[in-house]
Amino acid sequence: MRTRVGALAMGRLLGDQWRGHGPGYAALADRVRALVLDGRLPLEVRVPSERQLAEQLHVSRTTVTAAYDALREAGFLRSRQGSGSWTSVPGGVRPTGGAIAPPRPDELDDDLLDLAAATMPADGVAVRAAYEAALLELPRHLPGVGYAAEGLPEARQAVADSFTARGLPTDPSQVVVTSGAVSAWALLLRVLTQPGDRVLVEQPSYPNALEAARRAGARLVPVPLGDAGERLWDVEAWRTAFRQSAPTLGYVIPDCQNPTGGVMDEATREAVVAAADAVGTTLVADETLVDLRLDGRPPARPMASFSPSVVTVGGLSKSAWAGLRLGWVRAPRDLVDRLVEARLSWDLGTPVLEQLALAHLLAAPDRGAHAAARRAEVGARRDALTTALRRELPAWRWREAQGGLSLWVELDRRSSSAMAEQAGAHGLRLAAGPRFGVEGALERYLRLPFVVPAERVDDAVRRLAGLADAVGTRRPSRLVV
Ligand SMILES: Cc1ncc(COP(=O)(O)O)c(C=O)c1O
Repeated sequence: MRTRVGALAMGRLLGDQWRGHGPGYAALADRVRALVLDGRLPLEVRVPSERQLAEQLHVSRTTVTAAYDALREAGFLRSRQGSGSWTSVPGGVRPTGGAIAPPRPDELDDDLLDLAAATMPADGVAVRAAYEAALLELPRHLPGVGYAAEGLPEARQAVADSFTARGLPTDPSQVVVTSGAVSAWALLLRVLTQPGDRVLVEQPSYPNALEAARRAGARLVPVPLGDAGERLWDVEAWRTAFRQSAPTLGYVIPDCQNPTGGVMDEATREAVVAAADAVGTTLVADETLVDLRLDGRPPARPMASFSPSVVTVGGLSKSAWAGLRLGWVRAPRDLVDRLVEARLSWDLGTPVLEQLALAHLLAAPDRGAHAAARRAEVGARRDALTTALRRELPAWRWREAQGGLSLWVELDRRSSSAMAEQAGAHGLRLAAGPRFGVEGALERYLRLPFVVPAERVDDAVRRLAGLADAVGTRRPSRLVV
């Protein structure tokens, strides 16, 4: 089933910037092509008829007909008599890069600056204290068998309490402890989807979550997020996407979205949850980055507080340490039972010591102080990166990150993959924009994590500028295909 973009929505996406650039039909075709290549107009989307679009844009029908003809000829539209025209790319869909891997041991050297993974070293003091406390408790658990597919009672309690403390009353029976948030998402996919089911996702989104859905056989339906200066989550677009594709699952990152760093406001949360509920879609909110809100504003109400059907996944990989390899699902009880049952044929549970450490990390009296210190450190790294980027690469643009660990940078050319391919020669590791999308679009974007220590940021950005020169991203140019 194809989704449609209506004339009004298409008019909004096109904006007015294409007008007045040479012949109307060519400028219109150019703008549509740019929207497709930048992932703003997803592939396989049915576009409005020529008459509807002409009326919407107040141009002659001949202009739209000529634009559509040019797009068809270039491979950006396909049409069939009687079923309209839909977006495509020349040569068909290109494969995207899949999940982002940490550097391989043979890649690690002191000179390599890793701008591919958005992750920080441990909050050493807090993590150590939690493991020390956990070790003291371990003997109490040794007479037991060590398996608990739903999680240790103390870990489930600590996770439930942390939700309750955020204003979302939660019982431990609603919690499953998993091997990280991605593992939680993969478990949900396994239990709730069949191959071929549609899963609605933000575009751009977290590559490893997209890849988990692909590997579960899901058909990803992207809802493009707005560019810098626009609303990130366009409620109308979400409503339309839920209505048109009635997906089995929706996956959103409402808090410090990866890669844009945006935070969904409460009115949007409520509207997106209502749109999912209206078509019976289970909405999954990934809160992995929730503790990294950097703009000093009060935290937004959790997505799950708007409907009991919303499922939440989270973990401490970003706020404490990814090496803990623990996360959780918060879900309605009947779903918890199904998750636990499915899990028994997968990993049978997570390590006891780590779960005890998790409970300590979540309940530690100085947790707030640790979180604040982490945010201050991440904020300083973000500011150092943006200062250096403005100086060295003034043509690049980005939306200010309200939180999280990365900037979603709009380059001045579609050269993201070329930069990632050549990054090694400049002592860098990069994850190209297309990885964050569904169908290989997003070549004009690059995610830049602000995880490099402030004293190495200038070096990192100088390397980036050298790389940009080498692949020609800094040459001013008209948008080219
Ligand atoms: C949105 C999001 N979810 C999940 C993860 C990974 O979480 P975990 O290490 O708990 O599996 C990340 C890491 O970058 C992320 O950005």
